[in-house]
Amino acid sequence: MHEQSLLNDLDHVLITAEEIDLAVTRLGKEITKEFMNLNPVFICILKGASVFFTDLMRKVDLPLTTDFMAISSYGSSTKTSGVVRILKDLDHDILGKDVLVVEDIVDSGLTLSYIKKVLFERGARSIRIATLLDKPARRKIELEVDYACFTIPNEFVVGYGLDYQEKYRNLPFVGVLHPRIYTEEE
Ligand code: IMP
Ligand code: MG
Repeated sequence: MHEQSLLNDLDHVLITAEEIDLAVTRLGKEITKEFMNLNPVFICILKGASVFFTDLMRKVDLPLTTDFMAISSYGSSTKTSGVVRILKDLDHDILGKDVLVVEDIVDSGLTLSYIKKVLFERGARSIRIATLLDKPARRKIELEVDYACFTIPNEFVVGYGLDYQEKYRNLPFVGVLHPRIYTEEE
């Protein structure tokens, strides 16, 4: 391992690249069946879901369109406050559309329940949620997650799109950050 390797900052690997690939392929097949004839809009929640989104959509063999939304939740970097703000809105109207919202991780559930409310108010016909990771132990609000690739314990994870202070998104797997990293920087 070289000096600057991101692996130095990890406690352990939680989900390998191979496990992710299998789960994303399986989910793509399921979504292909369930969205048959719906011409869905896949909405990527930036930036965390970007890696999962681009992998997942290539496993879906259907006509679909894509759109992107960026949300910020105020608060410290390893906790969410529940206050949500739209930083980048969708480019297209979703009135009457069947929507799949693609997220990296559902933690408290506050971000997605806010997004779901906004999309329903704009007249989406149906809204389903696909997440790479689900941390059900941390839920603060009831939220139906339609598709989750992995249920994980209450640990702070990075990689495959997920960040800590904007770093580690480029790791090809999901790992648990060494607590040293966020205690040092506080
Ligand atoms: P929620 O509103 O609490 O469900 O927050 C979800 C957002 O918090 C995700 O989209 C992530 O950006 C961030 N988040 C929650 N847990 C983690 C984690 O373990 N690692 C990295 N980001 C996380
Ligand atoms: Mg996110």
